[in-house]
Amino acid sequence: MLYSLVKPILFSLDPELAHDISLKMLQQFHRWLPVTRVEKPTRVMGLDFPNPVGLAAGLDKNADYLDGLGKLGFGFIEVGSVTPRAQPGNPKPRIFRLSAHQSLINRMGFNNRGVDHLLTQVDNKPRDFILGINIGKNLDTPVADALSDYCLCYEKVYASADYIAINISSPNTPGLRDLQNEKALEALLAGIGQLRTSLEDKYQFHRPLVLKLSPDLDQKAIPVISDLLRQYGVDGLIATNTTVSRDGVQGHGLSEQNGGLSGAALRDKSRHLLSAFYRELGDEIPIISVGGIDSAEEARLRFELGAKLVQLYTGLIYRGPGLVKTIALSL
Ligand SMILES: Cc1cc2nc3c(=O)[nH]c(=O)nc-3n(C[C@H](O)[C@H](O)[C@H](O)COP(=O)(O)O)c2cc1C
Repeated sequence: MLYSLVKPILFSLDPELAHDISLKMLQQFHRWLPVTRVEKPTRVMGLDFPNPVGLAAGLDKNADYLDGLGKLGFGFIEVGSVTPRAQPGNPKPRIFRLSAHQSLINRMGFNNRGVDHLLTQVDNKPRDFILGINIGKNLDTPVADALSDYCLCYEKVYASADYIAINISSPNTPGLRDLQNEKALEALLAGIGQLRTSLEDKYQFHRPLVLKLSPDLDQKAIPVISDLLRQYGVDGLIATNTTVSRDGVQGHGLSEQNGGLSGAALRDKSRHLLSAFYRELGDEIPIISVGGIDSAEEARLRFELGAKLVQLYTGLIYRGPGLVKTIALSL
């Protein structure tokens, strides 16, 4: 209701400015907001989620807005992507609204304040949702050395996250998605796996490891990746990140902007990858479905297609924060 009044003002502003203002206002005034809680408990990856509706990575890259976001009723919030060192990301403008298609194109490029800053924001703060921390590599780290960036972040966030998501699917860091290729992925999972064993020994607890994948994967990659997930004991899959395809938005004045496409135009690809992985994995490895979910019906469909959890991003921009509760109540 309130969002329908505010949305025209926000949509008259540059998209990134509108994002920043919304998050700052939410954080500033969160004390006066009623707590939205929807109890639809579900146990996935050994974690108890208050409900299965989550915030996807990228909205709160530095975990600066958790007090405000925590009031919106999410069962889980994924912060990041965060990299070892702070970096500015790509020059602005770098988010574009394709409102006629209920979609966005972004080429943010992992703008973030670095993993140490993120940890100061999450440590020792009480929370009533599951916290995922999504990690990436710095732009100036060669792809061949990516493992060291992932390991550095993984080790630092291990004790603070409820689960850790490895992002190898953003289209805005050159070469990053090549880490989904068989050899590179195997090396990455083997390297992180070794570190995981030593951290499990040190802390005496297991942190679920989740891999976030691109919707642009070749069909042939699906059984290959599924085998690697099993082999290296990956606990979950996030499908999907944004797409470099422009299917569904061709002809729009902004469709040729570089970056990843999200929202309604991503929906078919996201459903497709979910179904394809579910056919391979069944209930063995849980899938978190994300991409173009903007209604209770769409969320329910994802569960029918095999998802165990869902995440939202672009749907929140077009439909407003009430979407979280609407979906969670419908499940
Ligand atoms: C502006 C913007 C920034 C994003 N940044 C990240 C990021 O840092 N890390 C990540 O894993 N995904 C990032 N994403 C992808 C989302 O988490 C999500 O996978 C994608 O947008 C598809 O979901 P949606 O259609 O509901 O938006 C970003 C998306 C947008 C729109």
